[in-house]
Amino acid sequence: MNYRNLGTSDVKVSEISFGCWTMGGLNWVNGNPNGWANVDEDEITEGIKLAIDAGVNHFDNADVYGNGRAERMLARVFEKLGVKSEDFVVATKIGHFPGTAAHAYEPAHIRHQCEQSLINLKRDYIDLYYFHHGDFGPNGALLEDAAATMDALVDEGKVRVKGQSAYSADDFERAVPVVRPQALQSWAHALDDQFVRPGSRVAKLMDEHNLSFVAFSPLAQARLLDKYDPNNPPEFEPGDHRKGNGGFGAEAIAALKPKLAKLKERFGDSTEDLAAVALNYILEQPRVACVIPGFRNPRQAKCNVQAAGRTLSAEDLAFIKEALA
Ligand SMILES: NC(=O)c1ccc[n+]([C@@H]2O[C@H](COP(=O)([O-])OP(=O)(O)OC[C@H]3O[C@@H](n4cnc5c(N)ncnc54)[C@H](OP(=O)(O)O)[C@@H]3O)[C@@H](O)[C@H]2O)c1
Repeated sequence: MNYRNLGTSDVKVSEISFGCWTMGGLNWVNGNPNGWANVDEDEITEGIKLAIDAGVNHFDNADVYGNGRAERMLARVFEKLGVKSEDFVVATKIGHFPGTAAHAYEPAHIRHQCEQSLINLKRDYIDLYYFHHGDFGPNGALLEDAAATMDALVDEGKVRVKGQSAYSADDFERAVPVVRPQALQSWAHALDDQFVRPGSRVAKLMDEHNLSFVAFSPLAQARLLDKYDPNNPPEFEPGDHRKGNGGFGAEAIAALKPKLAKLKERFGDSTEDLAAVALNYILEQPRVACVIPGFRNPRQAKCNVQAAGRTLSAEDLAFIKEALA
């Protein structure tokens, strides 16, 4: 496993790091589904053991993943495995769980959620603390105060490194000069690499501020693994954010199938081969520190860590881009 620094900080993360969203299970915030099909904690424990044994040192969490359940599960799993949480880079986020605040980025709410995350994670400090999205209120009214609150948490030793997650170049460009994070986080996968593609607005922003990128949904939520059948598309439960998402519908799966067939022909047709292609495609983009694939069992964990050390040539990258275009 290789390790890369986050921005100019001394925090190093494994190229394959692990996302913890599934660990929150089915969930809703303000009536909107934002969880995943429930997981089995024993299977998660086995998956994390396998990841640690393979050199994974960074776990990406958020207050909103199961409204605290994923943070608490991660702390319990570390205890069960007899490892020290402080030996790992634990990331979490504030922003999608407003509680009773009018906006999640009110300074008092940031402080409250930070304290609650520390309790849930059983930690005295968070290694990497993100603003989860780029909506700082009407006209960005909360941005300055939210950033100042985050800086105070750093000064108090509660946060080591700041991160900014967002879903548009506009949001990143507004937030970065004020928040001054070391790491940006958004989606990046072989079907949509708009934030990491060389020459893109966010890539330029990262060059200008010397930032790293943490790539979520690197498997396009498993759509790049060819695990779905257009004749029998997956059905998801209420509380799973994928329910009703067109990307998992019969038409979208059918359109993707022939493209994935081209990848299988060149790189091999196992799930391991496709996972290695998906994860390494993103790891080859400049400024990417790590990919953070989600997982729900040891089989998936094993499949995803085996991508470490498999490489792609410039011709391979061009082939993948062309095949999925
Ligand atoms: N900052 C943000 O706003 C944000 C947004 C999204 C995600 N994230 C973070 O990024 C992490 C990963 O993103 P993601 O979960 O959206 O997408 P992803 O990593 O592309 O997909 C993960 C999902 O794909 C399935 N899967 C994973 N490995 C597999 C394998 N080897 N074989 C078959 N199926 C496999 C699992 O779900 P099933 O078993 O249910 O198919 C798993 O939960 C999250 O856990 C979270 O930490 C952050």
